[in-house]
Amino acid sequence: MKVANKLLIATAVSGLLVSNVFADSLADQGKKIYSNNKQGNCIACHAVNGQTLDGPGSLGPVLTGLSYWPEEELYKMIYNPYESKGHITAMPAFGKNGWLSDSEIKAVVAFLKTIN
Ligand code: HEC
Repeated sequence: MKVANKLLIATAVSGLLVSNVFADSLADQGKKIYSNNKQGNCIACHAVNGQTLDGPGSLGPVLTGLSYWPEEELYKMIYNPYESKGHITAMPAFGKNGWLSDSEIKAVVAFLKTIN
């Protein structure tokens, strides 16, 4: 019984360590949303860091230099690009349309801030 308890504790502790090591940073979560065709699917229109979608699309500009953008501007661009750009664009309003939640947009912003 004692040994079993110790084993249980050891397993729990190593589980915690492992989950900490592999826990996704906010930027990593954003990167996944960026490339996931059920979420942001930004990659369908925007090549980034040499990563591109193999197929039709590429409607939007290649994203570079976004680390210099203020976070609020990036958030607004994803929430509602029409308002952010001041004109109609082919980029959909991910926040306004309810496709991405507030926390998902923040994760994508964290990823965009890593792009030089
Ligand atoms: C259907 C295609 C499409 C999708 C999907 C799309 N975009 Fe865009 N995006 C555009 C277009 C087109 C523009 C240029 C808008 C303009 O300047 O009028 C743009 C512009 C941008 C800009 C501003 C770039 C600059 O240099 O001015 C950012 C940032 C951006 N998109 C991020 C994203 C993110 C993040 C996603 C995913 C959540 C996304 N886009 C999904 C088409 C798209």
